[in-house]
Amino acid sequence: MVGLYNVFLFALVSSQTIFKEEVKPTSQEVNFLTRYGYLPPQPHGSDFSVTAQSISEAVKKMQKFAGLPPTGELDPETMKLFRRRRCGMKDILDAKTKNRLKRYILQQGWDKKTITYRVHNGSSTLEQSRVEAIMTAGLAVWAPHGNLRFIQVEETKADIEVSFVSKDHGDGFPFDGPGRIVAHAFPPPHGAMHFDDDELWGDSPDEDNEDVTDLFAVAVHEIGHALGLSHSDVKASVMYPYYQVPVEKLHEDDILGMHELYLKEATTSTPAEFLYAKPSSSVPRFTKSDISYEEEDDIPDLCFTNYNTIQSMQGKLFVFEEEWMWVLSRRRKIIDGYPKKIHDVFVGLPKYIDVIKTIYEKRNGHIVIFSGRFFWEFSSRYRLIKRGRLSEYSVPPQVSELTSVFISNYNNKTYLIEYEKFWRFDEHTMTMDKGYPKEMSAWRKVPYPVDAALIWEGDTFFFRGPRFWRFDNNKIQAHEYYPLPTAQIWFPCALTPEMASYTTNEDI
Ligand SMILES: *[C@@H]1O[C@H](CO)[C@@H](O)[C@H](O)[C@H]1NC(C)=O
Ligand SMILES: *[C@@H]1O[C@H](CO)[C@@H](O)[C@H](O)[C@H]1NC(C)=O
Ligand SMILES: [Zn+2]
Ligand SMILES: [Zn+2]
Repeated sequence: MVGLYNVFLFALVSSQTIFKEEVKPTSQEVNFLTRYGYLPPQPHGSDFSVTAQSISEAVKKMQKFAGLPPTGELDPETMKLFRRRRCGMKDILDAKTKNRLKRYILQQGWDKKTITYRVHNGSSTLEQSRVEAIMTAGLAVWAPHGNLRFIQVEETKADIEVSFVSKDHGDGFPFDGPGRIVAHAFPPPHGAMHFDDDELWGDSPDEDNEDVTDLFAVAVHEIGHALGLSHSDVKASVMYPYYQVPVEKLHEDDILGMHELYLKEATTSTPAEFLYAKPSSSVPRFTKSDISYEEEDDIPDLCFTNYNTIQSMQGKLFVFEEEWMWVLSRRRKIIDGYPKKIHDVFVGLPKYIDVIKTIYEKRNGHIVIFSGRFFWEFSSRYRLIKRGRLSEYSVPPQVSELTSVFISNYNNKTYLIEYEKFWRFDEHTMTMDKGYPKEMSAWRKVPYPVDAALIWEGDTFFFRGPRFWRFDNNKIQAHEYYPLPTAQIWFPCALTPEMASYTTNEDI
């Protein structure tokens, strides 16, 4: 690993662009352009090194998106944008990467019509009950445009989880104190919605009030993200990234986005009003229904895809994506005969389980695959032994699936991860350890939810999308040189320009 990493670093350094003296944008401005997708991510830890031309191009794009004349110059109107209150989500999603990656990065809608939400707390200035009322009203604005029903829950985990937090709050997207970023929300299936508690939240819109931020206006926008919409460059739309009040109703552009996400399959005849305009907010081109059109034997390229999960078992590395699996030796070599279809290896796994997302090897060598509230246990030679319920792992009944499971080599305990929480289970006594669940933010500097968690040569690794992190048990946080690109470090894959963007937590 260490040798590989050095090669990688060298490649990264030698490909850096030349810093030109003519333009000296402040690092804040470069950060802004990078954060919202106008500039490619800057290599981790390096001083920003961007050319005058790339800055000017980025500024043009930003001006266009905001509805200003695209001059490429940092004129006063443009400078104002850097300071305006706005949403923390990206404006430009990375479109350069191949389709397979796109399918992961671009938002999807919920694959159900009834969606739960939960308000964890109020802000320092608005009571929780007031926030709940505003959320309910905000959701009602969207509901009819996707035939959706929203149900408030109090105890169980909800699809959309709302909370007020400040500064670094564990998801890799720290808030920035008063002003500028006021909120962000993650697309399905994540759905978390965070409001910056350093803002002075109020419940009456006042355009000229620089101090008070209207929660309803921001909530309606963030709900759009939690339903799968991304930013729009239509200024009158709710999904425009900069703060605007008052918000009274959705714009046609927002409605078209919802139509693409939630009503396309249901409606056989497209209403005339939808035939002519294309929504400018990005919606997925590669949805689940598109996948079935793919050729049966369209095997994902291990070097250029995301991974449903990765696990170390039997001293080897197992990689799962779609209905395929690869097994690699310690030397990054794909074992002969792979990739294979998961059902050809794990015979007896029900066919409706079309991807493997959660798998681990028990101390006795058995391999356990989790799906929903059940698990399937196989012998080390892949013979089905039994099907069991999650409750055998003492997981509370409201947990509907686990996203990763691994056994720590440090204490021999089994870590059961569910999106934002994890439990520690003792398989020896078959009891859950006290004090759990804990928040995933306990693994500091590791963005979550993670796709995979595993132990490799004594170290703990986390994987998400195309990146991975190594956990530093001494500092109790991700090691400072991470993330790094998964494909180039773990698999026999060539170095690519994209991987530089996988060395920061910036655009996750
Ligand atoms: C709201 O809850 C989150 C976690 O659930 C916590 O981190 C945050 O401090 C709380 N905010 C307030 C304003 O109490
Ligand atoms: C963990 O389990 C293994 C195998 O059963 C054993 O060799 C090892 O000593 C155990 N380690 C701890 C810390 O209990
Ligand atoms: Zn937004
Ligand atoms: Zn957050």
